Amino acid sequence: MSDTYKIGLGNNDTDIRKKADSDFVSFWNDQAKNLTWFSPWKKTLDWQPPFARWFVGGTINASYNALDVHQETKSQKPAILWEGEDGDSRILTYGQILTEVQKFSNVLKSLGVEKGDRVTLYLPMIPELPIAMLACARIGATHTVIFSGFSATSIRDRVDDSKSKLIVTADGGYRRGKIVKLKEVVDEAIKGFDFVKNVVIVERTNNEITMTSKDRLWNDLMNNASDSCPAEKLDSAHPLYILYTSGTTGKPKGVLHGTGGYLTHLYSTFKWAFDIKDSDVFFCTADIGWVTGHSYVVYAPLLHGATQIMYEGAPDFPDASRMWDILQKYKATIFYTTPTALRMFMKFGDDIPNSFDLSTLRLLGSVGEPINPEVWRWYYKTIGKEKCPIIDTWWQTETGGMLISPLPGLETIPLKPGSGTRPIPGVNITVVDENGKDVEPNTKGYLVVKNPWPGMLLTLWGDDEKYKTVYWSKYENCYYPGDYALKDSDGYLWLLGRADDVLKVAGHRIGTAELESCIVSHDDVAESAVCGIPDEVKGEVIIAFVVLKESVTTENKILEKELVEKIRTDIGAIATPKQIYFVSKLPKTRSGKIMRRLLKAIGNNEKIGDVSTLEDGAAVTEVQAAFDEIQKSIKESN
Ligand code: WT7
Repeated sequence: MSDTYKIGLGNNDTDIRKKADSDFVSFWNDQAKNLTWFSPWKKTLDWQPPFARWFVGGTINASYNALDVHQETKSQKPAILWEGEDGDSRILTYGQILTEVQKFSNVLKSLGVEKGDRVTLYLPMIPELPIAMLACARIGATHTVIFSGFSATSIRDRVDDSKSKLIVTADGGYRRGKIVKLKEVVDEAIKGFDFVKNVVIVERTNNEITMTSKDRLWNDLMNNASDSCPAEKLDSAHPLYILYTSGTTGKPKGVLHGTGGYLTHLYSTFKWAFDIKDSDVFFCTADIGWVTGHSYVVYAPLLHGATQIMYEGAPDFPDASRMWDILQKYKATIFYTTPTALRMFMKFGDDIPNSFDLSTLRLLGSVGEPINPEVWRWYYKTIGKEKCPIIDTWWQTETGGMLISPLPGLETIPLKPGSGTRPIPGVNITVVDENGKDVEPNTKGYLVVKNPWPGMLLTLWGDDEKYKTVYWSKYENCYYPGDYALKDSDGYLWLLGRADDVLKVAGHRIGTAELESCIVSHDDVAESAVCGIPDEVKGEVIIAFVVLKESVTTENKILEKELVEKIRTDIGAIATPKQIYFVSKLPKTRSGKIMRRLLKAIGNNEKIGDVSTLEDGAAVTEVQAAFDEIQKSIKESN
């Protein structure tokens, strides 16, 4: 108990928890009233497990709530303080963004995009990305943003799955001083896709592009567009976006989010967790290509009429002081980043942040992966100067917004480094064993959510069955997120990493099955298994074991290069393994299951004796033999 920190921001609303505990449906009913609706809902929750529809019968628009509602009081207020990697900067007010969004809404309409159509956005972190998202939302088109680090094949799969009519991209984006040629990637990705009617290109580098008959330039279209486009009155469950994310099987799944419930969840969590005030300058470092960027860069801050910093480039470019420089320059008050970024900053040493004025900061956040207690303490001391609460926020692409976090905007409770503390009000979360029974305090189990919540995904795009099996089949009427957790004797939750074959590399979610099938599709590969091993900065990194076909004579060094190249073109650079081991066989149980624990031990250079619980069915001698053989073949081949 000595390692706890009682630090709050003077808020203490005890009623809200009481209300939420007594009736979560009427609690969320009250929360939804914070938004502006065109017509009220008739039913707060329609729960046909596992499908939840919130605020049934109500009509609403995300773009209207993000922009129009602020015009009377905040049209001159900066919404986005944009900083380019090369030092370029732009300030966009709420008034300006509304104008741009209305224009782009009209552009979309003029190109035949209608309510219900999908639009793919493959853009760098530039203001045109939120503008395009909000324009889609305004006319009722469903946006599907693809992280600009993904490859042509990844885009192709996603565009094909969503059947997007239109794609918005840029001639390039900046990353570590280099230009990433996004439009070329799109050309490759949509070859032969007749359903893609137009590609809109934002020109912002001097990179030359070749125009095709589908291509239109953003500026040309915007110059001719009217700046008035009233927001569509959309059903509360209208699909706002699809965001693809990796799971345990097959290709990435399209997580589908609605409008009214999702916005309610974001509005409330942003207020409770970040204690947002009109005077704040908020900075979330997430790329909009991930859910953190959708929820806490685009929608939540704009719903609150907040001012935020948006940064395009790498966090350590041109040098290790970039983040602190940005925080100081814009006088940021709230900073929200990842444990991976913090571990990197910590390695650079305290002198760097200490040479900047970070005194405007009042609240710090962490997201995406477990935060090590020593990193938490460093963040608290060196960045927050022991005066800022740290919120460790647990959630997922599927949950839409935070489900577990300290909430300094609502209450003061002692913080413990490495714990997300408690669930948000109105969400019932517990830790259970394999049979769904609550575990004793301080016992590791599976995290489950026992009731629907407003930010919950509607379904998986085009695959209700998969939605049921992935999230709702392990435990009856409970949402299963796939995380290990424990609850301590104070009722605090500690998130202990993924319980499935999903990896978290630098906070990015990577499915082992997807990566394995990519490797196996190389002509020379017979079998493959990948797993994660701990890494000081990235949390975990990928290692791959590859069994080649018997006839293969190509040198391993060449094959290794080819495989890395293949992974980069099929998935993207984030899925690149740190090490590829060529082995003669993979360790399997009698039932044919790959023993990843053993592979992890090998990757970590551990002795077999350190592998505590081996999967069922394998005799120790067999395992020992497989282990020795793999180590031998690694020695011979690498
Ligand atoms: C997975 C979801 C949270 C939005 C961005 C990532 C892990 C996330 C935490 C945290 C421990 C965390 C979980 C979760 N995770 N936040 N604060 N502490 N683990 O969304 O890519 O859908 O990944 O990230 O394993 O299931 P995502």
